[in-house]
Amino acid sequence: MRAIDVIYKKRNGGSLSEEEIRFFIEGFTKGDIPDYQASALMMAIYFNHMNKEETLSLVKAMVDSGDTMDLSRIKGIKCDKHSTGGVGDKTTVVLAPLVAYFGVPVAKMSGRGLGHTGGTLDKLEAIPGFSTGLSEECFIENVNRHGIAVAGQTGELVPADKKLYALRDVTATVENTSLIAASIMSKKLASGADKIVLDVKTGKGAFMKTMEDSLELAEAMVEIGTMYGRHTIALITDMNEPLGSAVGNSLEVIEAIETLKGRGPKDLTELCIELAVHMLLLAERFETYQEAKSAIEDAIFNKKALDKLKEFIEVQGGDPRVADDYSLFPQGSKQEVVVSDKEGYVHDIDAEQIGHCAMLLGAGRKTKDDDIDLGAGLVLNKKTGDFVKQGDVLATLYYNEGDPSQIGQLLQKSFAISKEKGKNKKILYFLVKSIDGRIVQEEIV
Ligand code: URA
Repeated sequence: MRAIDVIYKKRNGGSLSEEEIRFFIEGFTKGDIPDYQASALMMAIYFNHMNKEETLSLVKAMVDSGDTMDLSRIKGIKCDKHSTGGVGDKTTVVLAPLVAYFGVPVAKMSGRGLGHTGGTLDKLEAIPGFSTGLSEECFIENVNRHGIAVAGQTGELVPADKKLYALRDVTATVENTSLIAASIMSKKLASGADKIVLDVKTGKGAFMKTMEDSLELAEAMVEIGTMYGRHTIALITDMNEPLGSAVGNSLEVIEAIETLKGRGPKDLTELCIELAVHMLLLAERFETYQEAKSAIEDAIFNKKALDKLKEFIEVQGGDPRVADDYSLFPQGSKQEVVVSDKEGYVHDIDAEQIGHCAMLLGAGRKTKDDDIDLGAGLVLNKKTGDFVKQGDVLATLYYNEGDPSQIGQLLQKSFAISKEKGKNKKILYFLVKSIDGRIVQEEIV
């Protein structure tokens, strides 16, 4: 078989066989197929798409490209959550202790941020002393003893994705349903969870900008998980404006802690509760939606989930006093406010632009080898639907270096403000699940 023939076939609109896909992925992972041929194939897939069989073959070839985690030494039903990526998304920091408090083992492999989206490992490392570099032994022991561990990948899980994603990122071939579904699901399947809850973001700050594309991606991923025998559901949730108010590593962990104290922003709290309900239902901890929801609300109200967070921080070497004393976090030494030059209602806050502003302040990486400033970032004082007067503070910037005036202007432009009152903002749109092999969508009202 030759790589060029596989590229020809896809370029001309053909369907690739399992053998052809495996040949290409194996060859690329080993370095026998060069980047320029893999880029050509990615672009052919981008334009001509893959059918369900091809997508599943791609997932299988990617899972088989490296190690898989064996979580069988962890007792109980392991339920993982994955977000397709967004701005201000600190849900894992809230959810991991919340779900672990109910005795559902949380054995989570997380990643770092790139571009306008943040990564859970970076956020957790804002906690002084916190270590995400656990050995497989330590990871499993922590979950068995404390019910929770969050770490960077151990071993070589899905090396094909690492190489392919880096290539897609610089060849404008990220936004394709099959490629995203295969990339995310191969990693989830290789990391060994029994059940998977996907948070598929939709809107300006998401990979999928339209509801149609987001539903298509959610359906593809639920189908892949189900075919692999892992019970998988997806929620489609809003990423037009940033989630919550804080964007930047320390600032986001502080907001997550506030959420566990019952004082978090409304959208973040609503999303975390919904995701936690579905995780606890999949893990068979509760029988009904309402039962799970009430128990979760109680765990927040009684600060039980917050206590679990403190235990989690301590076990991974961090200083649990941060939960009560935010001055222990690395902080931007300088602050600047950005004010509104208009009066009216906030109709929209461009999440991607806000993420870009946070990155320019030092909170994110332009390329994967960049250092980040854990204390840098921004906090939005206004969200969609709020009324603002001229001169009102839209956001506060936190930084250590440079002149943020251009970033302030960019941030101001991210706010769409108009005289008319806008529509009520929604955070939860659809639940996508599989019933007897059929994929169904339920609108969340
Ligand atoms: N996140 C991933 O892990 N892969 C993609 O392709 C897109 C988002």
